[in-house]
Amino acid sequence: GISVAPLRKETGAVTYDPGFMNTANTKSSITYIDGDEGILRYRGYPIEQLAEKSSYLEVSYLLINGELPTKGQLENFESSVERRTLLDERFKRMFDSFPRDAHPMAVMQAGVSALSTFYQDSLDPFNEEQVRLSTYRLLAKVPTMAAYAQRVSAGHALLYPHNSLSLIENFLRLTFGYPAEEYIADPVVVSAMEKLLILHADHEQNCSASAVRLVGSSQANLFTSISAGIGALSGPAHGGANAAVMAMLNEIRDSGTDPRRFMDKVKNKEDGVRLMGFGHRVYKNYDPRAKFVKSIADDVLERLGVKDERLELAMKLEEIALNDDYFIERRLYPNVDFYTGIIYKAMGFPTNMFTVLFAIGRMPGWIAQWNEMIHDPETKIGRPRQIYTGEHARDYVSMEERT
Ligand code: ACO
Repeated sequence: GISVAPLRKETGAVTYDPGFMNTANTKSSITYIDGDEGILRYRGYPIEQLAEKSSYLEVSYLLINGELPTKGQLENFESSVERRTLLDERFKRMFDSFPRDAHPMAVMQAGVSALSTFYQDSLDPFNEEQVRLSTYRLLAKVPTMAAYAQRVSAGHALLYPHNSLSLIENFLRLTFGYPAEEYIADPVVVSAMEKLLILHADHEQNCSASAVRLVGSSQANLFTSISAGIGALSGPAHGGANAAVMAMLNEIRDSGTDPRRFMDKVKNKEDGVRLMGFGHRVYKNYDPRAKFVKSIADDVLERLGVKDERLELAMKLEEIALNDDYFIERRLYPNVDFYTGIIYKAMGFPTNMFTVLFAIGRMPGWIAQWNEMIHDPETKIGRPRQIYTGEHARDYVSMEERT
């Protein structure tokens, strides 16, 4: 029996749209994507211009407030964030109590969720002052948590943020364990990190942003809603793809598989193998972020004097794909994550940190999406319908009578 149990008789027809391929859940004025043309804009500004000219916190301000900040507004925003990078001391104990091999995304999700316990003075979703405070806290403390997650898993001591440094410099210093007085930021690495975070900062109604909105639609607080987004991002079909690309490249390299043979496997769908870092629900053209990421990879590898054969391997796979009917017909192109892992590796990040870096980048987008949802008078609690395919009504069978 297939039926849709009516919630209210007057609800009318129900659409069945798995994966929301054709269903808009909201109106939004934050991010514009034209998947056919490969266009991405935040608040109307092309992603290429923002990545080239802006900083991560400037883009955060833009996404959250709708306009680029003036010099004074940006300075105020930066200092409001940068002076909040410290974590409550008890976080250290919490981080230390997780198993050493815990995935840093799981640690981050737990950490962000725990913000609701430590910062109870900023939980009211309808109090603008409190939301502003939790916004600063998230932008400031999530990079510190990410650095801690990596340090703890490596069994290394945790350092304190030093507020004379920028948010990104602090993050890199804490992650790689430089004492503040010895730390000299490499401008190429810092700038690459800023650009990568900007490229990841928002992407309209993707799986994690939708999770943030859905949880927030129940009027759950911002920290809790964002922790749901981190959970959604962790999967390999979403943010976890950047780590999956690296695992794929390692496997091809280490097994000595001919790239063409690997691509045949993908095309024949052997063992469900996909070319990770390729394809996108919305982009049916080259992902504009992927083009930019490739040029960052060239800069960083050159600067750090790293020669990584996986870059050549990735370029070879891309070249095969761009000339192959399987990929052409399905309009599969590199997405943002195809080349990011190679940069993160060159910078010294372990593979399990890649998705955490994505989460740091996506933080302002999630906050902006949550804000838009909470202020939208048309917001209703997210509550999809279903098409019931189970049993018709039947009587309870006692244990003795069951076969
Ligand atoms: N490799 C090989 N074939 C692929 C790939 C791929 N990466 N992606 C899609 N296809 C094929 C599918 O097998 C399917 O073929 P079929 O019509 O013969 O069955 C067709 O292309 C359409 O694929 P769907 O899975 O229906 O497309 P959907 O929009 O649902 O999926 C997704 C998008 C999940 C991103 C998919 O392309 C994928 O799995 N890519 C690899 C993982 C990845 O890189 N994810 C990151 C996404 S970007 C991000 O979150 C930052």
